[in-house]
Amino acid sequence: MNIETSHLLNDVDFAWLEQLVRRAGEIALRHFRRTVIQRKADNTIVTAADGEIEHFLRAALASAYPQDTFLGEELSAQSGASGRAWAIDPIDGTSAYAAGLPVWAISVGLLINGEPVAGAVYLPLVDEYYSSDGHTARLNGVPIHVDDSGQINDETLLCVTSEAHRHYRIEFIGKTRAFGSSAAHICYVARGAAVAAVLGHQALWDIAGALPILRAAGGTMVCLQSGEPLSGVASWVDGHKSPYPLLASAPWAVPYFLDRVALLYRPKHPKES
Ligand code: IPD
Ligand code: CA
Ligand code: CA
Repeated sequence: MNIETSHLLNDVDFAWLEQLVRRAGEIALRHFRRTVIQRKADNTIVTAADGEIEHFLRAALASAYPQDTFLGEELSAQSGASGRAWAIDPIDGTSAYAAGLPVWAISVGLLINGEPVAGAVYLPLVDEYYSSDGHTARLNGVPIHVDDSGQINDETLLCVTSEAHRHYRIEFIGKTRAFGSSAAHICYVARGAAVAAVLGHQALWDIAGALPILRAAGGTMVCLQSGEPLSGVASWVDGHKSPYPLLASAPWAVPYFLDRVALLYRPKHPKES
């Protein structure tokens, strides 16, 4: 980490951030199983809670860090000059949330010069606060680490997207799980509950909170086709999704899944319409 990154990171009050994200969780719980469900222009689901939470987080963060950039799923981006940016997914797992199911999360990622370096992912129903201050990954304050067993067996868990049955052929002797929240899936890899997660194409706010947690826990995120480590996320700030499908994994398991997860479609090159 260079001096400029350290300086911008040290300026952030992570204890305050935890209180803030937990309060956002209270808003989500207040609306849970009561909220109105609507369809956005892209036909995806949104609830009243999504907008209220993003407004709440943006207002508090912008008041504390007025020179920063803010981007999120539900509101338009706001540019600042500090070199620091906050990527907010007010509810990751809105389909699960709208269906009254338990796995959904509030996700806040901190980027410095375009690179996610710290983050918070909170699952209010199970009271799990995953965080990284840029150095350590924690779950409710306790350090976490990816699976370092080096072994895959019939009890090993792989998290997958809800569209896995249409998009991938997966040859894997363990068990697959699709809980409905990419942020939660990445955190499950970070804590070693799942060895890896097939994520598909993700927007910056889907992964910005969880990626620093995964990395600080010893994990990695790679392109599912090439195995190349994820890079260049700064180019997704306009809301474009990753041009290639992603895999979050314990590093030793990457070659295993690159060999056993085959794409059933051809990802479009970013320049293709
Ligand atoms: C979605 C969830 C889902 C993933 C989608 C995301 P949203 O985010 O993370 O698990 O498969 O790609 O868009 O819309 O619930 O914030
Ligand atoms: Ca999301
Ligand atoms: Ca969302």
